[in-house]
Amino acid sequence: MKKRYGYDKKALKGLGYTKFLTEVHERNKIIEAQPEEEIVSKYNANILAERLHPRAQYVKVAEVTELKDARRFKLVPDKERGTERLAFFRAGQYVTVRVIIGKTDEAGDGPTDTLKSGMSSGTESVMIRPYSLCSAPMSALGEAPFYEILVKKVPDGFVSSWILENWKPGSEAVLSGPLGNFYYQDLRDAEHVIAAAGGSGITPFLSMAGAVKDGTEKFKLTILYGCRTEADILLKQELDELASHDGIRVVYVLSDEEKTGYEHGFISAELIRKYADETDFSLFACGPAAMYDFLKKQAEALKLPRRLVRFEVSGGARNIAADPGFPKEKLGESYELKLLVHGEMIVTKCRAEETVLTAIERAGVHAPSECRSGECGFCRSRLISGEVYIPADTDKRRMADARYGWIHPCTSYPVSDLEIEVYPVDAV
Ligand code: FES
Repeated sequence: MKKRYGYDKKALKGLGYTKFLTEVHERNKIIEAQPEEEIVSKYNANILAERLHPRAQYVKVAEVTELKDARRFKLVPDKERGTERLAFFRAGQYVTVRVIIGKTDEAGDGPTDTLKSGMSSGTESVMIRPYSLCSAPMSALGEAPFYEILVKKVPDGFVSSWILENWKPGSEAVLSGPLGNFYYQDLRDAEHVIAAAGGSGITPFLSMAGAVKDGTEKFKLTILYGCRTEADILLKQELDELASHDGIRVVYVLSDEEKTGYEHGFISAELIRKYADETDFSLFACGPAAMYDFLKKQAEALKLPRRLVRFEVSGGARNIAADPGFPKEKLGESYELKLLVHGEMIVTKCRAEETVLTAIERAGVHAPSECRSGECGFCRSRLISGEVYIPADTDKRRMADARYGWIHPCTSYPVSDLEIEVYPVDAV
């Protein structure tokens, strides 16, 4: 039923409303002549918002490239499942991959015994993990759009192992829209970006280099890529090709090997200064947690303004046992975790060394999450009782949330039995 838009004659009295009233009738006629569909969905702003921030993007694996200890996946829109195009993104952003573990996949392979461990039999868990986009943003546009992500083999990696075992050309996948703030912002950043990368942390910088190369981004990029040995460098040929373009430089920093043409040691303040060659630069970092500990000290020594220092934190696994603030006597403990979900109570276990979110997912509850690093707030849940440990650098809650018992389970570790209210989302 269409709604007629009325007016208040009294309110309009004295405003010369005769002409206005005629226009109301004209407007109603135009509205009623429109086809029976939601008028609001036709607003350009809504169409643009849906294109830039889709709730889900259905894709297919088009290509798999084998790397040393990783695989690179090329993902294309799955038109049969309704994704006609891919959302544009900023170089440095990530997408989350949503997979159902515990469900037989299309190729007939179920999860391995290792993956099943900790999941009660018959449990089907929706797992969400962020992966930086390594293709240049322009790849998402045009006639043959695609994204590329790189998935590294991680010991005990739950979702990465599943993806590496199950994704083949033709496999279906579900992604979020592009997310994250790890990208160049010309109002805030200097014109020169020093990018400190470690291991598979090279991926967002690969995308940035691609964007500088094709002119999408207009800053100078120097990548300092830290690896143990030359053999550990990922995508060297591609990086060398990118470095042949104006505005892009790649320097390999080997910690365990001395070789001509390579820097030796770590990405120190001294090395950063050497390649900064201007006083003003932004420092972006992406890599393992151990590299961050070192780099944070270097950033302090460089006395860079806070706005010029950016550490990518999305989804990095954390060794909580090495966190100086974590109560050591709690290590090895396993706590009861009660989950209040739509008024029903689910009881499970959570180890002190794992995040509450991991335990929630393992229990088969489709908890919302995106960044897995405390930043986006998607996993926000109510702590009814109990105590959690939240590493200070990942506590990105609003002050009111912290005060009134809300937590981000992705960066919360149990230090007592817990009761939490969770607000699940639809499975993929
Ligand atoms: S998933 Fe982003 S804050 Fe928890």
